[in-house]
Amino acid sequence: STSNSISTDNFLQCLSSHLPHHSDQNDPVSSEIILTKNSSSYSSLLQSSIRNLRFLNTSSVPKPEIILTPFEKSHVQAAVVCSKQNELQIRVRSGGHDYEGLSYVSDSLPFIVIDLVNFQSIRVDIEEEFAWVEAGASLGELYYKIAEKSRVHGFPAGSCPTVGVGGHFSGGGFGTIFRKYGLAADNILDAEMVNVHGEILNRKSMGEDLFWAIRGGGGSSFGVILSWKVKLVRVPPNVTISHMGKTLEEGATSLFNKWQTIGSQIHEDLFLHVTTEVSESINGTDKTVKVSFTSFFLGSAENLVSLMEENFPELGLQLGNCTEMSWIQSVLYFAGYSADDPLEVLVNRTINAGFFKAKSDYVTKPISLTGLEGLWQRLVQGEGSFLIWSPYGGRMSEISESEIAFPHRRGNLYGIQYLVYWNSENETDNHIGWMRELYSYMEPHVSKSPRAAYLNYRDLDIGMNERFVNTSYSKASTWGLKYFKHNFKRLVRVKTKVDPCNFFRNEQSIPVLQSR
Ligand code: FDA
Repeated sequence: STSNSISTDNFLQCLSSHLPHHSDQNDPVSSEIILTKNSSSYSSLLQSSIRNLRFLNTSSVPKPEIILTPFEKSHVQAAVVCSKQNELQIRVRSGGHDYEGLSYVSDSLPFIVIDLVNFQSIRVDIEEEFAWVEAGASLGELYYKIAEKSRVHGFPAGSCPTVGVGGHFSGGGFGTIFRKYGLAADNILDAEMVNVHGEILNRKSMGEDLFWAIRGGGGSSFGVILSWKVKLVRVPPNVTISHMGKTLEEGATSLFNKWQTIGSQIHEDLFLHVTTEVSESINGTDKTVKVSFTSFFLGSAENLVSLMEENFPELGLQLGNCTEMSWIQSVLYFAGYSADDPLEVLVNRTINAGFFKAKSDYVTKPISLTGLEGLWQRLVQGEGSFLIWSPYGGRMSEISESEIAFPHRRGNLYGIQYLVYWNSENETDNHIGWMRELYSYMEPHVSKSPRAAYLNYRDLDIGMNERFVNTSYSKASTWGLKYFKHNFKRLVRVKTKVDPCNFFRNEQSIPVLQSR
């Protein structure tokens, strides 16, 4: 519309006055930083990190007027100042893995995307055991850079190498060593961000409230995170992995039932996680559920086997099921590669996009056998589902709920991620409907008041901000308490203080307290 083009024209003018060196439209640098819908690389850049094909559709998905790909901090500062001045909403994208596409799709038009694709540098200091990581770097790049310098250092974050550290660290971030070391967000020492006034802040100048909020509260409500300083952790030269799958006919339910009580109690060096998927049963005609137990152990195969004999003899884990490898090889393994693949695959940004919908839950009391049977039945009736069950406990139970904004700590046996994948757009409604039914079936079996959820597995079904008015505290509590529990109140206070006009907003951003 005309008003869209006026505000984007004014925005571009403002930008060129703030970037005097690149003010000429024909300047190659400015044409690289600023992509309008007419730019030849607009579409390929927009699509480059889209992970969920639900948000790729060309006609019905709203598109940004402009994509900015800043090279320097000053470009980000100018982008914030100029979009605020012209009432353009911004979306910030690091790795683009947001489950609901919030980093590049918005219903509030017009909007622009700041894509941090050129903020990827990583500086690892092994001696002092820290790294500075720019927000557009991926997990795979961080792991790769650490491994280049040391075999006995790692970082506790997620398994998928193409996930961006901008979104992931600000929402929590967990992976194979989080029972030992906590979340990515628990290991952040400092951060650099651009606030609503276009100023660059670090931990000291932002103050402890804001620094607390961006560790688990999501970065997108508070500003543009430029980089993180993270604490590296120590890993042994060899770790051990094992994998065992059982179908329902092979006794998966009773093994799973035992796992429910020991997964979070077992030694923190062991991450024994479970996945469930539908597979063919032995007779080849029926479908069954296959439950897979995958161990990651910070130690030798021998020690893993004796730990399992002590705690979970029913699984029957033996040395022959175990493989010893370096920590970085285990990263390859959990990323879906072979442990012998070259490490360079970790820095490959090519994305396997698909259609998917996900939801999450936390479980504080073991699910009953009848509860499990009903769940298996539903999985068999559906198609394309994959559930990931992650044991908590260990270090996660030692850190207090209010230490950082991420609240899911002591008392949780495990977290569940429900995923469903499909291949074409016309199946979307069916699969989303199936997922919603599954979620309502699970209600009596999972955490209550609030029914908890993990921010990084974003789910807009649990509630959204209103589009044109300020969302009230009580309305936002429907999802805010699920994601943040008691920390939601403090997040709202911090938000009200640092961004009272609610410039940094999206469908599930932290609302501003209204003054009466
Ligand atoms: P993206 O760029 O889409 O950003 C996500 C959100 O953060 C958006 O709201 C965005 O605006 C905001 N944001 C991004 N960069 C910002 C910045 N610099 N400043 C301010 N706000 C910013 N999680 C986990 O804990 N463990 C795991 O193992 C996995 N594995 C996994 C696998 C796959 C295939 C997917 C798709 C996702 C995961 N996740 C995960 C979930 C992941 O942690 C979550 O999607 C993150 O938010 C992704 O961060 P990105 O930067 O990639 O996303």
